[in-house]
Amino acid sequence: MSDKTLYSYTGLFDTPDEIIKAANQVAKDGYKKFDVHTPYPVHGMDKAMKLGSSPLGYVALVLGLGGALLALGIIYFMVVVDYPVIIGGKPYFAFPAFVPILFEVTVLLASVGTVAAMLFFLFKFPNNAHPLHDTDYLKATSCDKYGISIQAEDAKFDEAGISGYFESLGAKSITPIYLDNEEINTKHKVLEPKFIGFLVVVFIIVSGATYISLNKLMIIPPFSWMMEQEKVVPQESFSVFKNERGMQQPVQGTVARGLIPYAFKGKPEEAGKFLVNPLVPTKDILAEGKNKFEVFCSPCHGNLGEGDSRLRGHFPNPPSLHSEKVRQWTDGRIYHVITDGQNVMPGYTSQMTREERWATVLYIRALQRSQNAKESDLL
Ligand code: HEC
Repeated sequence: MSDKTLYSYTGLFDTPDEIIKAANQVAKDGYKKFDVHTPYPVHGMDKAMKLGSSPLGYVALVLGLGGALLALGIIYFMVVVDYPVIIGGKPYFAFPAFVPILFEVTVLLASVGTVAAMLFFLFKFPNNAHPLHDTDYLKATSCDKYGISIQAEDAKFDEAGISGYFESLGAKSITPIYLDNEEINTKHKVLEPKFIGFLVVVFIIVSGATYISLNKLMIIPPFSWMMEQEKVVPQESFSVFKNERGMQQPVQGTVARGLIPYAFKGKPEEAGKFLVNPLVPTKDILAEGKNKFEVFCSPCHGNLGEGDSRLRGHFPNPPSLHSEKVRQWTDGRIYHVITDGQNVMPGYTSQMTREERWATVLYIRALQRSQNAKESDLL
């Protein structure tokens, strides 16, 4: 007995009713350090034992809040301080987008942290020994008996009177449980090299087997029939056509959608005679013409159309658009130059729509008038 210290006294009961009554009585008599063991959860036991709520709730609260703050801090640093990028015109700190991440980190820290706190603080990991392990008492309570264990540490515990107290509760097989000092003082089994080595071996086998079975044995080629079907690839051969080319000329006479063929190609005089400007010079149309003129024409013709190119001699300077000749031209004649080009000046059909070309003509008219204003223009 000299190397053994008393841990607790235990007593067994036969029915759930008895154990509830006994637990109630023990709690009522002021015992704090006692525990009840039953083969299955018995309803009402918490109340009978007067158990408070678990401290783990506070751990979960603190860790959850900590997780939320941590996530917020990391996100803030990343998207506001370290690498600010405007996404979809939103402010850097677009809170609604961060809610899922906040939620995830909150739950992660709260759950993992609570389990860790339970293992380390309540179960005193790596200690995995308990004086009740391997006792007949625990064997009985995990089979068909209901037991109470009152710890010797309890302030109300009195070794001489405790047997009598258990008898008064109606308990059978009243047994003292001793601490096994040897077991408690020896190294924790979970830290033994043999056990750690076993874990390492299991880890290597499981990860290796998973890797091999998923990557080598079970490899299924992703279906590729959509990618590998016969289809026309630009710049490549295609056996369906006689000339085996992927790219074909459109069928003769094909007109692209929206295209109206230009009837006066190479016929400037006729264009000047028959083409009529469909637009009237409203403020909006002149604004549009000004915009197009400045984008497409002014690099060569200058902002006012005076022929003062900004190209520094890289392209022949065009003549002024204020010449007597051009001022006498009809709108259609100017339109023809923009559409068909003239000598070194290219046509602008691919850059400008018909409307834009006509609007530009109207703007050129406005420019001409501005440079050659008559007194009557003031009225
Ligand atoms: C790359 C420079 C360049 C650009 C850009 C350019 N032009 Fe020209 N343009 C010229 C040259 C050079 C001529 C003279 C061509 C020739 O030798 O007949 C010319 C001629 C003209 C003429 C005939 C002038 C005349 O006296 O015969 C008109 C009208 C005209 N351009 C309008 C425009 C309009 C409108 C635009 C914008 C849509 C434009 N140009 C864009 C270089 C340019």
